Amino acid sequence: MEGGPFFRLLGQRRSVRSFTSGVVSDKQVGMMMEACDMAPSSGGLQTYEVYGVRKSESRRRLSDAAHDQESVAQAPLVLVFCANPSRSEHKYGERSQLFSVQDATIAAAYCQLAITALGLATVWIGAFDEKKVSQALGLAPGLRPVAMLPVGHGSRKPDEKTTRGAADLLHMME
Ligand SMILES: Cc1cc2nc3c(=O)[nH]c(=O)nc-3n(C[C@H](O)[C@H](O)[C@H](O)COP(=O)(O)O)c2cc1C
Repeated sequence: MEGGPFFRLLGQRRSVRSFTSGVVSDKQVGMMMEACDMAPSSGGLQTYEVYGVRKSESRRRLSDAAHDQESVAQAPLVLVFCANPSRSEHKYGERSQLFSVQDATIAAAYCQLAITALGLATVWIGAFDEKKVSQALGLAPGLRPVAMLPVGHGSRKPDEKTTRGAADLLHMME
């Protein structure tokens, strides 16, 4: 793809659902969080929290909550992005519900790209029972799980994918 290293990175990011037993270091996790920390957020308030889960029993509980998706149980690390509207309610009131979900989503998207740049693999997990994830993590009331990222060393090359194509996405208006 044209456009230099950033566009190459975008092309390299693919969903990977199968992982080797290779570890993800604390340093790598730190770099992922640096990427999140650079993401835009509502009012700069960063209204989300990220929970890191390494323990296999805990990952198994998260996998159960995600309709038994094996990628969640198999990856050595799972990052759970949770909206935390209480960080901006004083400023944005009801709108902070939406803003915090957007903040968590953007941070997770930045994180996916950082994971790719580090030579690691991940997949966005959005299909899960929010209540069960909250229970598995013992989340405080008000925190809303938005996305999970199982992270590890990919063990399989992703299949070719088809997309709508860039031109189909844009509707230029008068
Ligand atoms: C909001 C959202 C929810 C998703 N939920 C899941 C999921 O629960 N399990 C899964 O394996 N993939 C999930 N995916 C990954 C998509 O299936 C994947 O991004 C899509 O097929 C395109 O493939 P690519 O990521 O390789 O480009 C989700 C992606 C998004 C953005």
